[in-house]
Amino acid sequence: MSETAKIEIEGKSYEFPVVTGSENEKAIDIKKLRGTTGCITIDPGFKNTGSTTSAITYLDGENGILRYRGYPIEQLAEKATFLEVAFLLIYGELPTKSELENFQESITKHTLVHEDMKQFFEAYPAKAHPMGVMASMVCSLSTFYPESQDPNRPKEAIDLTMHRLIAKLPTLAAMSYKNAMRHPFVYPKNELGYCENFLNMMFSMPTEEYTPDPVVAEALNKLLILHADHEQNCSASTVRIVGSSQANLYASISAGVSALWGPLHGGANQAVIEMLDKIQADGGDLEKWVAKAKDKNDPFRLMGFGHRVYKNFDPRAKIIKKACDDVLEKLGVEDPALDIAKKLEKIALEDPYFVERGLYPNVDFYSGIIYKALNIPTEMFTVMFALGRLPGWIAQWKEMVENKEPIGRPRQIYTGENQRDYVSIDKR
Ligand code: ACO
Repeated sequence: MSETAKIEIEGKSYEFPVVTGSENEKAIDIKKLRGTTGCITIDPGFKNTGSTTSAITYLDGENGILRYRGYPIEQLAEKATFLEVAFLLIYGELPTKSELENFQESITKHTLVHEDMKQFFEAYPAKAHPMGVMASMVCSLSTFYPESQDPNRPKEAIDLTMHRLIAKLPTLAAMSYKNAMRHPFVYPKNELGYCENFLNMMFSMPTEEYTPDPVVAEALNKLLILHADHEQNCSASTVRIVGSSQANLYASISAGVSALWGPLHGGANQAVIEMLDKIQADGGDLEKWVAKAKDKNDPFRLMGFGHRVYKNFDPRAKIIKKACDDVLEKLGVEDPALDIAKKLEKIALEDPYFVERGLYPNVDFYSGIIYKALNIPTEMFTVMFALGRLPGWIAQWKEMVENKEPIGRPRQIYTGENQRDYVSIDKR
């Protein structure tokens, strides 16, 4: 007998099926709720709403578990390459040797962007935030590949769009940085690995030789893997919902980039470093800043703390904290921001306000410190997050299309005025 849930409304009882996931998570299937009861559910921020069933990422916020396609994040971050993880997320299985070679070859072949795109970059002010540039550039790719706008394309054509995106995003990211510096663009080098190529496009100059440091490339590989997917978060849900209207993949990913930009989501990594710098410049009185974060009349929040689903610990933060120590030691970097971050973490974790609310450091708390050590400028931190999250967004979009999910269209409970008659302006 399959499980059901009973809902009673105005003395009448209704039964709804219960859906059970492969890790035994349960949901009440209310697809027929409005049709049978006339009611809808209300859940601002979708705190209790499952928008889909998904076989991509499993996340248990209470126990700090994160797995991509069943593989623990700890193992992937330790042993895999970012492109291997991208393949896993998108196609569902770890690639065989030849599958990975073909995938890498396809990605490598498409790293160049159309020369005309250079003019778009040059038209932006030097101070343009790179996330604004990235969102526009990703959407602009659709204008160079108009065939991507056909929702009924064959699988091979969709694969090509997905590969183009993975190939071109690092090129666009590095171009947005070089443009902000008003430095010449560096073209992709196809003999380099994915992370090395990105570092080369970011830091190579016509005036001197640049060889990507393997420590830096390895740290970047790990960070990209840690960011690669996180199930139905704000940006992934955005990608799915935009894609559900059959908007093309470039437009859907561009919407994801915009959603990620906010400081409550991916923009938090930039906000964390700005906060740590501010605390340091203010004399480093951590008790004062923790008190501000607790004060409900003060809009200040401890950036990098708290998470919608992790209420115990964020497994990515654990891995990043260790990686942060390793990278700083290997590169011989001493960053006072790291000391402040560690002290802040200690104070907050002992404070009942944070403990009671399950507020722990999230992935963004330490990632900014590593990016800083890798010489990535603060405004580029969220772009780095977007590079990592891209395969996740693609996988979420692909699953939504393959599941033939209906267009995303929530309902509402209207609380405005009832019908009233128009009053002409001289009588108001
Ligand atoms: N500092 C101080 N108080 C906080 C913080 C914080 N960082 N985060 C949450 N709280 C408090 C809230 O004021 C609220 O208190 P109350 O119950 O007394 O009203 C309680 O904790 C619950 O917070 P909500 O905002 O309701 O939780 P929600 O799940 O909606 O928000 C979020 C999660 C947005 C991540 C929040 O914790 C936050 O703003 N954190 C700082 C920004 C950040 O680091 N974002 C990155 C998230 S990770 C990612 O997207 C990759």
